Amino acid sequence: MQKYVLGIDVGTGGTRAVIMAEAGGIAGSATEEHEPFASPKIGWAEQRPEDWWRAAGLAVRKALAAGELKGEQVACVGFSGQMHGAVMLDGSDLPVRPALIWCDVRTEKQCQEINERIGAKRIIELTCNPALPNFTLTKFLWTRENEPDNWNRVRSVMLPKDYVRFRLTGERATDVADASGTLMLDVARRQWSSEVLSTLEIDRALLPALYDSPEICGAVSSAGSEATGLLKGTPVVAGAGDQAAGATGMGIVAPGAVSATIGTSGVVFAATDRPALDPQGRLHTFCHAVPGRWHVMGVTQAAGLSLRWFRDQFDATRANDRGDPYERLTAEAAAVPAGSDGLLWAPYLMGERTPYLDPNARGALVGLTASHTRAHVIRAILEGVAFSLRDTFTIFSEINVPVRDIRLGGGGARSSLWRQIQADAYGHEVEIVEAEEGAACGAAIIAGVGAKIWPSVDVACDSVVRVSERVRPMEEHLATMQASYDAYRRIYPAMKSIFT
Ligand code: XUL
Repeated sequence: MQKYVLGIDVGTGGTRAVIMAEAGGIAGSATEEHEPFASPKIGWAEQRPEDWWRAAGLAVRKALAAGELKGEQVACVGFSGQMHGAVMLDGSDLPVRPALIWCDVRTEKQCQEINERIGAKRIIELTCNPALPNFTLTKFLWTRENEPDNWNRVRSVMLPKDYVRFRLTGERATDVADASGTLMLDVARRQWSSEVLSTLEIDRALLPALYDSPEICGAVSSAGSEATGLLKGTPVVAGAGDQAAGATGMGIVAPGAVSATIGTSGVVFAATDRPALDPQGRLHTFCHAVPGRWHVMGVTQAAGLSLRWFRDQFDATRANDRGDPYERLTAEAAAVPAGSDGLLWAPYLMGERTPYLDPNARGALVGLTASHTRAHVIRAILEGVAFSLRDTFTIFSEINVPVRDIRLGGGGARSSLWRQIQADAYGHEVEIVEAEEGAACGAAIIAGVGAKIWPSVDVACDSVVRVSERVRPMEEHLATMQASYDAYRRIYPAMKSIFT
């Protein structure tokens, strides 16, 4: 009998459920949107964990219905999700407050505190990463300092997808890939860092149990079954944060393979066989979803979000365009030449991580003239986001991370214009993978390894991930795009003093 595995990706905009057949085809999928995140103050971003669970239940039910499948046909469930979010539960397992999510950057002071109490160099030695406002630990410290009544009621903490798993199974569990983004994991040794926890007085008992991504860590409970239509007792693997899961879904599991994904954020991700470090801390070094492997990645905070922001604020026709903002807007931008006639976009709408590690960075449209049109602005946004991702390739070459194949993912891979812009901006051929890629597929692949459908993540990727298209850089664009990139690189240093 054909076996199926389910991947659930608890994203920022919505939760996606993908059911994969062991032969690799997608049997059914569905996405349920989340409430948009609340940003009550500049730099804040909060979501209600209960809303993720609501969306997950519906997405799984709809995916089963779309595939005309019954819950009992699902052999195993895997999770993926937005990383870094701080979910804090009280003694009755209710959130004490909305979760502070990945793009919330209110915690600069707490980062300084970590650097003072542990040491800026020592925190990189202990966790392979610098103290950044995105990382979960800083969000706990903020809550402890600013909302002591809430913090005193906290009895367990978890990451966003792990909350959904908790509601599905009753287990408090996480995986080393997602835990790498908490700043509490000793990434090189794949275990919680006692030194970080004890120095900052975080009780280890609050933290979930740790697993490698394909390990089984629980089973669907009666309540979980009722909400989703899955069979009670269905095994659930640990899964991975959306970056490691998304890379798995695209076959980025061995050194040399690199992905460039433009979702809400933008990520350039390389698989490694050791915890490779950028001594300046501009890249994140995390455990991979493959046992015994790691990855490095650079993150643009507002990649797809740049275009989405443009749509939401300036696009009067958006009322009829609930779905992907990329298609219609990119069609408009296609009429503008490469280089956007000198117009540049710096995508720092939510501060920035790579390469500047600056929560105070701000976005900018630079070089406007009366000749520029709305279409120029859209093209400049597409190019500026690609230049921001190129900054990570620039650092990869500085620290000798090999780049052999580049695969595109997310909304940036669906638009033919954005694909070409990326090939031109990176100066390297880019590949598109067949059928659906992405974090939910990666989570399903990881579930398939847990269910022993495939013996390893490498074998699973070889059997299900195929390249469907290759896009080469256009010779006639390369000089212009290089000149634009050189100019783009000068924007942040020139603007920096304005934002502090
Ligand atoms: C990764 C990151 C984002 C979030 C949201 O470090 O911040 O990918 O996981 O998708």
